Amino acid sequence: MKKALVVFGTRPEAIKMAPLVKKLQESTAYSVRVCVTAQHRSMLDQVLEIFDILPDYDLDVMKPNQDLFDITSNILLKLKPVLDDFQPDEIFVHGDTSTTFAASLAGFYRGIDICHIEAGLRTNNIRSPFPEEANRKLTAVITKSHFVPTTSAKENLIKEGYSEQQIVITGNTVIDALNLVENKLNKDEKIRTAAKEKLSQAGFHISPDRKLVLVTGHRRENFGKGVERICDALLKVATTYPDVDIVYPVHLNPNVKDVVTEKLGGVSNIHLISPLDYVTFIYLMINCYLVVTDSGGIQEEAPSLGKPVLVMRDVTERPEAISAGTVKLVGTDVNKIFSGVADLLEDRMLYDQISKAVNPYGDGIACDRIVDSLLGGKLGLAQFVPKSILLS
Ligand code: UD1
Ligand code: UDP
Repeated sequence: MKKALVVFGTRPEAIKMAPLVKKLQESTAYSVRVCVTAQHRSMLDQVLEIFDILPDYDLDVMKPNQDLFDITSNILLKLKPVLDDFQPDEIFVHGDTSTTFAASLAGFYRGIDICHIEAGLRTNNIRSPFPEEANRKLTAVITKSHFVPTTSAKENLIKEGYSEQQIVITGNTVIDALNLVENKLNKDEKIRTAAKEKLSQAGFHISPDRKLVLVTGHRRENFGKGVERICDALLKVATTYPDVDIVYPVHLNPNVKDVVTEKLGGVSNIHLISPLDYVTFIYLMINCYLVVTDSGGIQEEAPSLGKPVLVMRDVTERPEAISAGTVKLVGTDVNKIFSGVADLLEDRMLYDQISKAVNPYGDGIACDRIVDSLLGGKLGLAQFVPKSILLS
């Protein structure tokens, strides 16, 4: 039996790795252990609870306002005894965080095969997103199997000289996670009621007669002036449209939380709330009118739920939903953010055109494809192709 160590540390990695942990555990070919670095603490624990995952190892590295040196060096040092204890054949890492890079490097030092999930995303600007673009490129160099979400991610790796034999197009595992949660919310009244209760505990009630703008933001390259401009744009929306609710589950990073609380606290139609568990957050996204974010994962989920997304970044490594017309880049310019929101609030035809449900990022069986390919492709699952490409 092969030994697999799945390593993750932040909220989005946990959401995107949870369905893979389950699939690997179901497979009789694998002995699986989960190691969380806990680069995030409470935001990670929320996900572990929702998906009922009990880690075998917890490196507990998070410190308040940690810097990149802290995270990377602590993970590297604390992973060494874990690798010596379990001696895995394969290490699974996800995406582009410091956890991803440090865990890959630790595996490389011990000669262990690295399987990189959500490989191949690129902006081709090494400083944006920072440090994520560097993390994913550094990880790619020491990866054995690249599981890419989309055709363009595969093309990025081929351009960088990686062999086609190392690459499998799986779709993004976030759609596996999203489908699981969406099905639960659709089928189970109790789960919907619990989500509503959690929202009201967080201090927010959805009003059916008010449009809801859902906001999140946390990118390091927006810290300082960028976060301030985002707040100014939201203030302008809130005062221009008093009949619209803006709900903002604020990331716990003090570089975000402190500024946002100071600039937006006390505005009656801006609702600043704590980070939500994944089920409650998806319930909120299903019930919102549009999304304004700089998040990566939300750019992938919202199109699948038919929600238009304004992305507060200058570049994105996720071009597919922009091509599909449901995601628009607005950067952190106050007027661009404001007019992006205003256009969608006021122009019904534009909104209807943009708010179509598209699934360029996955079809919900990415994890089946990953496990099948690792086991020699016995199930013969075809690689992921978005429906729109299949139809054209
Ligand atoms: C990290 C990732 C980023 C990812 C994001 C997802 C790196 C360098 N950055 O950024 O790629 O998109 O997570 O959210 O890997 N904090 C808490 N509790 C928590 C989580 C964070 O208090 O549960 C606070 C702490 O003060 C912590 C700080 O946030 O020091 C920053 O966390 P960190 O993981 O360094 O950066 P993120 O901005 O979260
Ligand atoms: N999310 C959540 N609760 C929240 C905000 C976001 O569960 O209060 C989920 C969201 O659905 C998505 C992921 O967290 O799957 C995105 O995380 P984040 O924006 O922190 O990181 P990124 O995707 O930008 O790396």
